[in-house]
Amino acid sequence: MNVRPFLLERYFAKYEFNAPYLLCSSDCETISIEKLFELDGKKEETLRNFLNLRLGYTESRGDPELRKIIADIYESDKIEYENILTFAGAEEAIFLFMNSILSKQDNVISIFPSYQSLYEIPKSLKAKLTLWKLEERDGWYLDLDKLKKLIKKNTKLLIVNFPHNPTGYCPKEEEYKEIIKICDKNGIILFSDEVYRFLEYEIDTVKLNIKDSKPLEPACNLYEKAVSLGVMSKSFGLAGLRIGWLASQNKGLLEKIAVLKDYTTICSSAPSEFLAKIALKNKDKILKETKEIIFNNLKELIYFFEKYKGYFNLSFPSGGSVAFPYYYNDTDLLAQNLINSKGVLLMPSSMFEYGKNHFRVGFGRKNMSQALRLFDQFCEENLLKKD
Ligand SMILES: Cc1ncc(COP(=O)(O)O)c(C=O)c1O
Repeated sequence: MNVRPFLLERYFAKYEFNAPYLLCSSDCETISIEKLFELDGKKEETLRNFLNLRLGYTESRGDPELRKIIADIYESDKIEYENILTFAGAEEAIFLFMNSILSKQDNVISIFPSYQSLYEIPKSLKAKLTLWKLEERDGWYLDLDKLKKLIKKNTKLLIVNFPHNPTGYCPKEEEYKEIIKICDKNGIILFSDEVYRFLEYEIDTVKLNIKDSKPLEPACNLYEKAVSLGVMSKSFGLAGLRIGWLASQNKGLLEKIAVLKDYTTICSSAPSEFLAKIALKNKDKILKETKEIIFNNLKELIYFFEKYKGYFNLSFPSGGSVAFPYYYNDTDLLAQNLINSKGVLLMPSSMFEYGKNHFRVGFGRKNMSQALRLFDQFCEENLLKKD
């Protein structure tokens, strides 16, 4: 297998655990096991059960009780526990899904810019890759006519990700249903990365008001050839559990993927499955806290980008915990100078192979205000005072 290094992960490997402030993380604020047990409301009993947990192998497709709890999230009679397969994070799910269906005869269309493994794994399998680029005009948007033109006879798979990393873009329901219709008409499998699901909102920039909006219906509910990807890492802030899953009406496809899992992790970690079940049973409480953090942080970001209007332009996100502002100059240089002088990490767009004029900002963490204050100081010293 010939796969290029994952640029964003290599960049994080250099800075993530020594930079004082991360202003580009995509995962939301995490919690301790103690806090998780408190949220569950039966701390002593849950702790006793956790301590009594036996540490043997677990079922390869995932703990059936966990799969049932995950299936319930989809709120559809088309998705039962047999329609769920668990993995070590979303990353293993992406890897095994692509490996189980793609070969060099296939054409794959992927949304771009994107989380690199979504297009890199197809490329490593020698599939022909076509990028479906998000456009930035008055905000980010996807051109559906362009998608129709990109489809070829051998197009097997379309890869999308909503809410989108890195732009925070979420299509309107009609656009999303049109994407599914296009796939259906052409017999294309839809891989829908939904790892930021449940973090959808509307921003009223005039009144500076941010309110919840309804998540898109999961692709696996709407289309029998769709596979939805979920994970504990992002909206739920529990990346350390390394529990992700695929949901699909297509049990035959899940079967093929399950066979490959015997060659990677075989099964999930028993303590992680236990903790994921507790977290998902309390998902509404976790999401409420996460959204509070995100909404407060977004208001601060709006002020910040308003203050530095001539230098930056933020196309507002409508979901997730990241956005992808424009900067008038080289963002590799900006990120380097900022980390060196203030210890604040940004993710330049070169890590997404998307030119040099954007960067990813993450706003799911409690300490974003402190990081933003330092970025503000940096901009005062380096942008305003220079002019
Ligand atoms: C869109 C998207 N998909 C998948 C993943 C992988 O998630 P995990 O690290 O939990 O495997 C990420 C992580 O950043 C992501 O942003």
